[in-house]
Amino acid sequence: MQKIIVTGGCGYIGSHTTVALQNAGYNVVIFDNLANSRIDTLDRIAEITGTRPDFEHVDCTDTNAIQNAFAKNSDAIGVIHFAALKAVGESVQKPIEYYKNNLISLLNILEQMSAFDIKNIVFSSSATVYGTPDTLPVTEQTPLQPATSPYGQTKVMAETIIRDAVAANSNLRAVLLRYFNPIGAHPSGKIGELPNGVPNNLMPYITQVAAGIREKLNIFGNDYETRDGFCIRDYIDVNDLADAHVAAMRYMEQMQNGTAIFNLGTGRGLSVMELVNAFEHATGVKIKYEITSRRPGDVPAIWACADLAKEKLGWVAKTDLSDTMKSAWRWQQNISEK
Ligand code: NAD
Ligand code: WQD
Repeated sequence: MQKIIVTGGCGYIGSHTTVALQNAGYNVVIFDNLANSRIDTLDRIAEITGTRPDFEHVDCTDTNAIQNAFAKNSDAIGVIHFAALKAVGESVQKPIEYYKNNLISLLNILEQMSAFDIKNIVFSSSATVYGTPDTLPVTEQTPLQPATSPYGQTKVMAETIIRDAVAANSNLRAVLLRYFNPIGAHPSGKIGELPNGVPNNLMPYITQVAAGIREKLNIFGNDYETRDGFCIRDYIDVNDLADAHVAAMRYMEQMQNGTAIFNLGTGRGLSVMELVNAFEHATGVKIKYEITSRRPGDVPAIWACADLAKEKLGWVAKTDLSDTMKSAWRWQQNISEK
């Protein structure tokens, strides 16, 4: 069985990707420091797939520890690098921590891949690299704009670092995946997103209001120049996102050396109100909300052109929006019980 190193594999997207990789026949070893995740995720993955992934409790910024972890797993064919801090607002307060965590981790991973001759890396990038785009939908050719937060800047810088590393090493291949807005949970309700404290993101906020943990949803602005005045995003089911990583891994096995970039979205923009309505229809639970002022830094509208991923990876987002809403709600109910 081919082995893949999944950094940050106990986190939200990493855990779903581990499930998808195991279901596709890969052997997964997770490297995670559990900074934003829980060890029992490994058991939950085992409940879903029948296999507990191997695990190294390691901080990717710790050069010696990472070297040892790679030495133990030098037979891996590739790395999927999720490990990062991801809270946009927090990154403005703690820029050094974000640059240090996200960039030193990446440098260590690239260094050890080179040392152990591991050829393939898939990197978690983000739609945040497009800033406020001039044209919609955004394609991979849409010019990048200066990021509006240190978090976003770590993604722009990481993409550059990876391209330069690949250009200098003819053995290395990279796929940069620019995720739009991941939502939902595994249909089993056994794994999902674990926000720390008050959620920053819309979907976990909605499910917490539905569960009675928060009194109401604050909707940030209804005066945007969009079809209904609310911000528009491309919400992508996390299970579809996970499948794209399997497709990327397969693609790399026959790809020429170099760096490939793919947008991962549905190709469909939904407004905040449309998402709230979709949740209510799918679950039958009403969401109390209040319209408040705009959130500084919010892009009015962004959604993906995901045609390239379809053409090259054979991947499309396929989960029905109402199934995504139901899985998010199932997961919320599961964690609320604990
Ligand atoms: P997450 O916080 O749930 O998962 C990240 C995992 O990485 C956690 O398990 C955390 O403990 C681990 N980690 C962080 N720093 C580490 C370090 N130094 N060493 C070892 N482990 C470390 O986040 P997620 O939503 O699953 O995001 C995964 C990746 O996708 C991140 O790189 C994130 O920036 C990127 N991304 C996320 C979104 C989103 O909306 N969730 C959108 C675009 C891109
Ligand atoms: C979505 C919409 C809000 C919360 C962020 C990061 C981005 C990427 C994905 C990592 C917006 C509105 C939200 C609330 C609201 N992450 N909203 N009330 O900002 O599109 O993207 O996560 O790379 O980099 O910036 O996602 O879920 O925070 O917001 O009205 O309580 O929901 O204004 O229009 P965003 P989000």
